Amino acid sequence: MEDIIIKTPEQIEGIRKSSQLAGQALVYIKDFVKEGVSTEFLDKKIEEFIRQHGAIPATLGYNGYPKSCCISLNEVVCHGIPSPTTILKNGDILNIDVTTILNGYYGDTSAMYTVGEISDEAQKLINVTKHCLNLGIEQVRPGNRVGNIGFAISRYARAKGYSVVYEYCGHGVGIDFHEAPQIDHSARRNTGPLLRPGMTFTIEPMINQGRPGTVTDKHDGWTARTVDKKLSAQFEHTVLVTETGYEVLTDVSGEYKIC
Ligand code: MF3
Ligand code: CO
Ligand code: CO
Repeated sequence: MEDIIIKTPEQIEGIRKSSQLAGQALVYIKDFVKEGVSTEFLDKKIEEFIRQHGAIPATLGYNGYPKSCCISLNEVVCHGIPSPTTILKNGDILNIDVTTILNGYYGDTSAMYTVGEISDEAQKLINVTKHCLNLGIEQVRPGNRVGNIGFAISRYARAKGYSVVYEYCGHGVGIDFHEAPQIDHSARRNTGPLLRPGMTFTIEPMINQGRPGTVTDKHDGWTARTVDKKLSAQFEHTVLVTETGYEVLTDVSGEYKIC
């Protein structure tokens, strides 16, 4: 396994700027998420926003991925490809995942959006998934182990009757799109590498209503769906390990205190 990069203050500033732009793209897109709109349209708006701010979308051309973001609807766990024929309808839930490259630095974040009136079950899944991300973030401090992030997430998700996707993970990010360490969202207590100041990585739990397994679309090679076609939700932030705790680099709302 490659080494975990400890970022310099200059690199951290670059990653922070890119992360903030990715976070702002998620705020910008909110007003466009409406019944009748295609996911391709949302992708174009995201691409335009990123480019207008002097950055490029990291997913475009990444391992052959064709679009500027991932949009994952309902039973799609992750890597949904925006398409002109995927039209949002009342009751849909969707994750929009944006990764930016600004001055060579990467920022990666995603959030859930809803269309019209959604079911109570869908809303509960979204709420629990957001809380899972927050519980993971609360584990971030020097000297703690990476595994405690996934331990906190999986304990809570299972207590709520949900399952945790184990086939896709969080990852180091900043200098490259996917760096060490891998952040499992289901892990055993006190396992994995020690966290150190200057590490930057994502936490991005995917939580399923039903079974945890996924199947990748045979035709496009990307879209990952739940095996049982039940709903899946995801939230993602890029986090910096500080001297005393964490900074959520992709938070643009001031929801998280730097600690
Ligand atoms: N942004 C996704 C992540 O959180 C990765 C998308 S890769 C793509 O890691 F190729 F599917 F776009
Ligand atoms: Co990510
Ligand atoms: Co992402």
